[in-house]
Amino acid sequence: MARRKKIYEGKAKILYEGPEPGTLVQYFKDDATAFNAEKHDVIEGKGVLNNRLSEFFMTGLNAIGVPTHFIKRINMREQLIRQVEIIPLEVVVRNTAAGSMSKRLGIEEGTALPRPIVEFYFKDDALGDPLVTEEHIIAFGWATQQDLDDMVALALRVNDFLSGVMLAVGIKLVDFKIEIGRIWDGDFMRLVVADEISPDSCRLWDVKTGDHLDKDVFRRDLGSLTDAYTEVAKRLGVLPTNVTHPTKPTLIN
Ligand code: TMP
Repeated sequence: MARRKKIYEGKAKILYEGPEPGTLVQYFKDDATAFNAEKHDVIEGKGVLNNRLSEFFMTGLNAIGVPTHFIKRINMREQLIRQVEIIPLEVVVRNTAAGSMSKRLGIEEGTALPRPIVEFYFKDDALGDPLVTEEHIIAFGWATQQDLDDMVALALRVNDFLSGVMLAVGIKLVDFKIEIGRIWDGDFMRLVVADEISPDSCRLWDVKTGDHLDKDVFRRDLGSLTDAYTEVAKRLGVLPTNVTHPTKPTLIN
């Protein structure tokens, strides 16, 4: 049997050639990295959970008219996606101060921000993904002013959707990162949400306890990453909560 052509391998995912032109297969690995891969571990089951969770968020976004690269999940670890031209920026939206923003600006983690703040980081591992301004982005030709306006609008729509979905299951969306890609339709270009949306790329805090339900569990050695991600998946109904209770249906009066 011919082997599939690998297009790209990143820290947490692999991209293979898809079944039709313009498509790719995105494979979710179990690898977890932090601090630009200085810290690395293999966490059994993480890829399966992120594949499911990313499917859930991307499907929801598609359904409300926020375009994404997602087409369909193929199996436990793989999904079919549209091939996009990734813009070399990480787009971060923050609702609450945490992580690098708290460090950089000396704001205590957990401080509510006056409004969602959108930041751009230049995707370059060798440089450690530095924070950049719109001036850098336009001057160096990574995106145009129009792209930037569209990216901010897209990121804020993702924020509204994700915040709502999370709050409904008792989780505060502190911040998240998305990547955005271009899809060409002849001469026309559209921006779509690409890569993944999962607890690897979000900060999720339990509303009641403040417990971390995201990759900070790994970054900060706070416990079991699989347990945290499973909790998110269960609350969202992405995983069955009670697998084997073959009770008879009960009539409710
Ligand atoms: P930060 O506070 O470390 O800048 O992270 C902001 C958000 O972006 C947080 O939700 C985690 C996510 N993130 C990634 O998805 N990939 C990364 O490489 C980094 C540094 C952060």
